[in-house]
Amino acid sequence: MEKIIIEGSHRLVGEVTISGAKNSALAILTAAILADSKCTIKNLPDIRDIAYLKELLLQMGAKVESSKNAMTIDGSCMSKHKVDNDLAKKMRASYYFLGALLCKFKNAEVPFPGGCDIGVRPIDLHIKGLEALGANIKISHGMIIASATELVGTEIYLDFASVGATINIMLAASMAKGVTTIENAAKEPYIVDTANFLNAMGAKITGAGTDIIKIKGVKALHGCEHTIIPDQMEAGTFMAAAAATQGDVLIKNIIPTHLESISAKLREMGIEITESEDSLRVKSNGKMKAVNIKTLPYPGFPTDMQQPMSVLLALSQGTAIITESIFESRFKYLDELKRMGAKISVEGRVAVIEGIKRLSGAPVFATDLRAGAAMVVAGLAAEGQTEISNIEHIDRGYERLEDKLRSLGAKIHRINVAEE
Ligand code: UD1
Repeated sequence: MEKIIIEGSHRLVGEVTISGAKNSALAILTAAILADSKCTIKNLPDIRDIAYLKELLLQMGAKVESSKNAMTIDGSCMSKHKVDNDLAKKMRASYYFLGALLCKFKNAEVPFPGGCDIGVRPIDLHIKGLEALGANIKISHGMIIASATELVGTEIYLDFASVGATINIMLAASMAKGVTTIENAAKEPYIVDTANFLNAMGAKITGAGTDIIKIKGVKALHGCEHTIIPDQMEAGTFMAAAAATQGDVLIKNIIPTHLESISAKLREMGIEITESEDSLRVKSNGKMKAVNIKTLPYPGFPTDMQQPMSVLLALSQGTAIITESIFESRFKYLDELKRMGAKISVEGRVAVIEGIKRLSGAPVFATDLRAGAAMVVAGLAAEGQTEISNIEHIDRGYERLEDKLRSLGAKIHRINVAEE
């Protein structure tokens, strides 16, 4: 088992380049199996979730060639429609095989997905959407078993603008008969990136990035080349780390509009943000005002940034309120932050944070991926040493996190527990 050790209170200064978006990459690599020839995906983040997905694709019979940040997938030789349980449980995005396999083979057997433990995370909207397209779905021994004689386009209203359900329906509908309309669709950048990729394969999708997406089914999809968009959450994490350490960091290879809700909150707190076309500079003088945050679907404040942001609020002047409206159990990590001296009380989906001057380093646990990121940000800001365990979560979503932070002046390294 590995741990991350941070010697805190060092200002982050310099430049950092952001990797490709995890959530886009996971959807797009799965979508690639729909093509009748090779797809090449570039700007992939070199992270654990992508490695798991590569293994899954190989197990499913796809031909995969990969280098550090690119992958070529040829799904034309695949014949399996059943996804392995052990690998699928390791990540949330395995649910995309449901829509993709159903589209490709009219049959899919997919285990219930894994991923971060941040709430119940049902997939009823995915199932409802696929059923509306004509799939017959039953649950048996922990597997979701879907079949259809044909998929036929229809109107689907999502009760909640779910990222996963929107993408799964787009995948299944891409080669359905007729037109599918998704109403109250999710608008996250991952949706637009996935729709752009499917369109490059020959799909006919319009409206991605708005509430209403229309998918005109086509007969076949072909291979293409695509570059993944930059990771909004990795960029947001570096923004938080720069602010927490009174730093001055230029964050490169980003799309500033994707970060607007985060930039707006940081500005409200008194942090200087200067945007240019594909980069953003974060500069902090260490004085941060408390603000209130409510997580919402895009373009609202992202739930994935709620955790790193709480560290800044713990160090701000005044009292802040965080309302988590997406996932009901996304506050577990606050107990870890309290070990570092943060003053926080939680009542259901609301956390009240009373700002303090300093956090103090402590042994803490990464309860999930973004909680792990929050612990890193807290450790960088804290006085003394922080030791973070359960860091497999962090490796699922951040490429070379310690290297990137070290290049900005952080004192951070990784140890094997045996070394202790
Ligand atoms: C995706 C992201 C995750 C991000 C989240 C919200 C991936 C792999 N993960 O997760 O990083 O935090 O979007 O931006 O892209 N819901 C239902 N029924 C469903 C589906 C969702 O009730 O069938 C609810 C969920 O419980 C949650 C809300 O809808 O309360 C949003 O979930 P959703 O957008 O689907 O998130 P994920 O796709 O799981």
